[in-house]
Amino acid sequence: MLNKYFYLNTIGCQMNVYDSEQIAARLAALGYQQTGSLEIADLVIVNTCTIRAKAEQKAFSFLGRLARLKIKKPGLIIGVGGCVAQQEGDKILRRVPYIDLVFGTQAIDRLPLLIRKIENKRCRIVDVALTEKPRQPDALPDRRLDGSVSTFVTIMRGCDNFCTYCVVPHVRGREISRHPDRILEEIRGLVQSGVKEVTLLGQNVNSYGKKEGLCSFAELLSRVNSIEGLLRIRFTTSHPKDFGNDLINAFKTNEKVCDHIHLPIQSGSDRILKRMNRKYTKALYLDKITKLRDTCPGIAITSDFIVGFPGETEADFNRTMDLIKLVQFDGLFAFVYSDRPKAPAVQFKNKILEEEKRERLQILLKLQENFTRMKNQALVGSVQPILVEGISKKQSSGSFNRSQPIVQWTGRTSTNKIVNFYHNDTPQSDADIFAGKMVRTKIEKAYAHSLWGKPVGAKSATGGLKGEESYAA
Ligand code: SAH
Ligand code: SF4
Ligand code: F3S
Repeated sequence: MLNKYFYLNTIGCQMNVYDSEQIAARLAALGYQQTGSLEIADLVIVNTCTIRAKAEQKAFSFLGRLARLKIKKPGLIIGVGGCVAQQEGDKILRRVPYIDLVFGTQAIDRLPLLIRKIENKRCRIVDVALTEKPRQPDALPDRRLDGSVSTFVTIMRGCDNFCTYCVVPHVRGREISRHPDRILEEIRGLVQSGVKEVTLLGQNVNSYGKKEGLCSFAELLSRVNSIEGLLRIRFTTSHPKDFGNDLINAFKTNEKVCDHIHLPIQSGSDRILKRMNRKYTKALYLDKITKLRDTCPGIAITSDFIVGFPGETEADFNRTMDLIKLVQFDGLFAFVYSDRPKAPAVQFKNKILEEEKRERLQILLKLQENFTRMKNQALVGSVQPILVEGISKKQSSGSFNRSQPIVQWTGRTSTNKIVNFYHNDTPQSDADIFAGKMVRTKIEKAYAHSLWGKPVGAKSATGGLKGEESYAA
């Protein structure tokens, strides 16, 4: 039998990255091999995102590019999955006539059946069923990665929070948590295949297990912390309303939990937070930040902001700016508000002009730049344990008159800052061995989005993984 190939395009958040891996595993089980070339693909899948209008446009513009391929190769199967698929359903078949399959966010398990059906009958299928209690979502039992140091593990799916701007609860369905035993099993398997760091994923990890009466998120962290061979644990996203003391303490008690929290606030104005249905106030958020910093002084804090939410006045926006000045985040993501057809805020009055939104975004980003640089600069001179992720760049041997090219490595601090460095004893051929190692690195320079360091000697696998140490060479 001839080889069959699939091409997979992933747009969107880490959840989609994780789901795409699940999709790829199922397609491999059907006998398809993954390819990076659209030209030789027999099956093209795009895993889509609809969080903002731009993400949705990205999906449709990719699909548009496939028209030419389908004419050249009428047997080509094209499938659309993920959040746009869930949102638009059969409308996609009408809008893009050469699409064969639309599968929603709860249909990944059924993908092999759907593809087989299309292969045999050349029919068009839409499967976007979204049930209140979907089958316990689970990874394929033997998830193995080739050489990745760090990977995502979805611990819960869906969302019950219904922030008024957000499409996620409408396209991902109700919140459901995976059983801790399954999560641990998956992580142990990943560690066996060389993974050193996991990022646990959920839209609101703080409510993990509550609905199902499983363990709390802090308890899950402590169980994951005990997995031998795993070096680092990260997680995202935390919702300020459910962010409790047990989780604050978890940073202290679990040595593998990294010194970084992503805690989206969205706005510094209580009036806007109320309209967003975020269920916390600025004061409550600040109180949690104070507690976090008291308990873990070196912790890096990042956040998300939306500017130009309907009804956001100049005064509301200035409250957001004041909050940024007060908290001094290590970094932040900021977005202009985007109307989503299924989210309630689409009906809200007093929409802000596009131009005004963009201007506010630029002002906000400019302000934050100073703090990001300041936080990076503060690390210069310190020694940071870096988890090496891989080679970032090879430098040609010529100017250095070496037989081997000089290799530039990259990794991250516990606080999630990228550090690049040279390590002359580790030529490229040793990449597999060096990636995944913990290396103590003296930070020499700070840039806008990364740091430059110099290794000062390897550290044992489990000792001193967190935080900063002062340099005493
Ligand atoms: N569950 C996470 C966020 C998931 S979406 C949480 O509650 O924080 C990631 C970010 O996208 C959000 O934090 C928000 O800042 C942004 N976002 C979501 N919907 C948006 C919209 N309609 N317009 C602009 N930004 C949006
Ligand atoms: Fe969207 Fe709010 Fe759920 Fe986050 S918590 S996914 S912003 S509805
Ligand atoms: Fe993620 Fe985008 Fe869906 S952010 S949950 S892929 S809408």
